[in-house]
Amino acid sequence: MGSFVVTGSASGMGAAVTGRLRAAGHRVIEVDLRSGDVVADLGTPDGRAAATTGILDRSGGVLDGAVLAAGIGPLPGPDRPRRIAQVNHLGTVELLTALRPALAASGDARAVVFGSNSATVTPGVPKRVLRALRAGEIDRAVRTLRLFGPVAPNIAYAASKIAVTDWARRAAVTPAWAGAGIRLNVLTPGPVRTPLLDEELANPAAARAFRAFPVPVGGVGDPGHLADWVLMMLSPAAAFLSGSVIVVDGGSEALLRAGEWPRPVALRQVPHYLLRYLAFGRSSRKPGSPAPGVLYRSE
Ligand code: NAI
Repeated sequence: MGSFVVTGSASGMGAAVTGRLRAAGHRVIEVDLRSGDVVADLGTPDGRAAATTGILDRSGGVLDGAVLAAGIGPLPGPDRPRRIAQVNHLGTVELLTALRPALAASGDARAVVFGSNSATVTPGVPKRVLRALRAGEIDRAVRTLRLFGPVAPNIAYAASKIAVTDWARRAAVTPAWAGAGIRLNVLTPGPVRTPLLDEELANPAAARAFRAFPVPVGGVGDPGHLADWVLMMLSPAAAFLSGSVIVVDGGSEALLRAGEWPRPVALRQVPHYLLRYLAFGRSSRKPGSPAPGVLYRSE
């Protein structure tokens, strides 16, 4: 039996993950704005601090896994872009960073961050917004987002999901995460039938755009199926999974972006690539690091 925390546990995919973990006999600390063991607004610094204290108290400072599913969709409204950045980006990155020591304390933990295929299928997300989010400067991100008028919430949503994915991939492979036995990965759903999607589709313009959106396998995702992927990413099978982005979207991304990944390393990128390569070799020779060349240890 493990000890897990799930944010966004009151609804949709977070609720489905919570149900499956409980059914498998695990202890789950539910965190949500509406109800749960810890009720907190992860979009505010105070809410994140209260959530961190509540989670650490209930877990005794040791967590086997964290699932960061709390999020809000791109509904219309002037303050929505700011709220999306605060909840989807800071509510994930800052909370998970605060929980890292508790995950490290288990020695073999898993963390799953919810991205979205909106990150890669939404055109025109400005790099300036991503740089601002990466620096945690929400006001700066919102100033640029305002220029997008009625589609600002959609751009903010895509930007928030690019930013959490980018953060997770960079963090996952560092000594603080991979080196501390934490396997940090991203699940990237396409449209999934949850209250978040239903709310979005209540807007006729969004519903029209949605009907035109290509999903090669047809239909929308089932929250329970997405929860099954999360359970796999929390399981021992994820021991060799780190910094990966698991796309479960019915094929939309492959249809719209085929050929853009995997891509060979361009010649102009080789110096930067080699620097990373060599830096890793140096850090892995530090005392206590696994010997270079040991790719995995079987049980
Ligand atoms: P949902 O709306 O059913 O559940 C989200 C939960 O997050 C709710 O219980 C809500 O109360 C909680 N929450 C919202 N703001 C919060 C805050 N400030 N503090 C604490 N809790 C808060 O949504 P769903 O669809 O299950 O979404 C889960 C994750 O999956 C989200 O991160 C979403 O962006 C992502 N996603 C959803 C897709 C979909 O089509 N449903 C597609 C791709 C990604």
